[in-house]
Amino acid sequence: MSASAPILGSASPAASARAARSLKRAPGPSGYPLLGSALDVDRQGILTFFIRAHRQYGDLVRFNVGPIAGHLVVAPAHIEQILGPRRESYVKGRSWDTMRLLTGNGLLTSEGAHWQRQRRLLQPFFTTKAVAAYSQEMTAVAAEVATSWEVAAAHARPIEIHSEMMNLALDVLGRTLFGVRFSDQAQPIGEAVYTGMQFVAQRTRMLLPPPLWLPTPGNRRFLHAKRLLTRFILDRICNVRAEKGGAPAMLTALREARDPETGAGMSEQELIDELITFVIAGHETSAVALTWTFNLLGRNPAVEERLHAELDTVLSGRLPTLSDIPALVYTRQVIEEALRLYPTAWIFPRTCAQDEELSGYRIPRGSMILVCPYLTHRLPSHWPEPERFLPERFSAESARTRPRHAYLPFSAGLHTCIGQHFSMQELILSLATLAQRFHLQLHSSDPPPMDAESTLRPGAPIFATPKRRRWHAS
Ligand code: HEM
Repeated sequence: MSASAPILGSASPAASARAARSLKRAPGPSGYPLLGSALDVDRQGILTFFIRAHRQYGDLVRFNVGPIAGHLVVAPAHIEQILGPRRESYVKGRSWDTMRLLTGNGLLTSEGAHWQRQRRLLQPFFTTKAVAAYSQEMTAVAAEVATSWEVAAAHARPIEIHSEMMNLALDVLGRTLFGVRFSDQAQPIGEAVYTGMQFVAQRTRMLLPPPLWLPTPGNRRFLHAKRLLTRFILDRICNVRAEKGGAPAMLTALREARDPETGAGMSEQELIDELITFVIAGHETSAVALTWTFNLLGRNPAVEERLHAELDTVLSGRLPTLSDIPALVYTRQVIEEALRLYPTAWIFPRTCAQDEELSGYRIPRGSMILVCPYLTHRLPSHWPEPERFLPERFSAESARTRPRHAYLPFSAGLHTCIGQHFSMQELILSLATLAQRFHLQLHSSDPPPMDAESTLRPGAPIFATPKRRRWHAS
């Protein structure tokens, strides 16, 4: 199917609505009466259902899950319309209601004037220049992980990569956002984040989710997790106040932040919502990205060898610093390619706010839109041999020939991930610190299954034994 410009944009709303109603529906599975494809999604798992639907029906697939009508969107040209010029028609809306229970009205879920104000206020804390201030903390966290891997390597003791990376990413957030080491709180906070994310993923799939006031085991677990996160953040806000001047953490600066246009700061509730949002949006995303990167390196010795050569040349055995990042070209490409094959945010939803059109197909008002980087990143037209792990695809020359929206691990347009520079810096420094010292010998030769929930995480533990390596002068 070819993607084209919309035909409804310039007409009056009434004329646009009439024109949209005369269009045909996008192809897709008809499913069962009332249930639609709910049983297939349940039986196959949502990712497999979408992979098959895409294979059968093409780059725009209409489907129903119970009363919800949805459209799976894969073509870069369609994604460009949704995230760019037609974005007023494609809002976050009720597709983010469940996440809103967890993160309140933070950046991830808010819209309109509130979102605009918060983004304006928070953006300066996430520029490349601003996040540079956290580079030493990021490397220090990775160096501590390396120290524990030294012991594991000396005793040939296995590690589980995903839990190691979850701890690393949580530690980075603790030190950079809050100026604390989680230490004994790491486990409950990590579990609370996990419980919250599981709750959101499961509730999103329910045809009739129970109201939150019903004391079901799921609701109670969720409310407990949310209380724990809120209490932790409130404690930190109070402590930073008491510390006068506080730790050099983002929280200290956020408390003083003022909207450049109105001079107003954030209320306590707004600050809590944004901080919970950063923890939710920035923890598992970064951890999973590193997990898949190590998994791919363990299965692709030629790529790993080239990575080691770059690390040896640039770092000569010392820890990486901020000023090394521009020279770690291949290291960055390895991460970019891992995020192509395993985009942490493998799908993200929008709600269609008015009748729309994509490539001559009708997108009815109220329809849920699912942009799916997992499938877009595997389109053979833009990614030859899509299943191969080839970091060279991200050389400047190759990247120039691809449409902008063929690659979107951090989304695109207005709602592009605010933490993109923060996490790329974290991922590069962590990978450089760990990969220059260790090769992770994977215990299983089978690729790990994927668990496509809120993020694309491994569906089973990935065990590996760290093997110490020495740097070689080039
Ligand atoms: C590998 C790591 C990460 C990935 C793959 C990632 C991915 C994404 C994606 C795809 C979106 C857009 C969702 C949408 O358009 O509906 C997003 C938004 C967001 N991310 Fe990230 N993210 C990562 C790390 C982080 C970090 C470290 C933080 C903060 C510390 C963060 C904070 C946010 C926030 C606040 C938004 C909402 C932005 C807005 O709508 O204005 N993310 N992220």
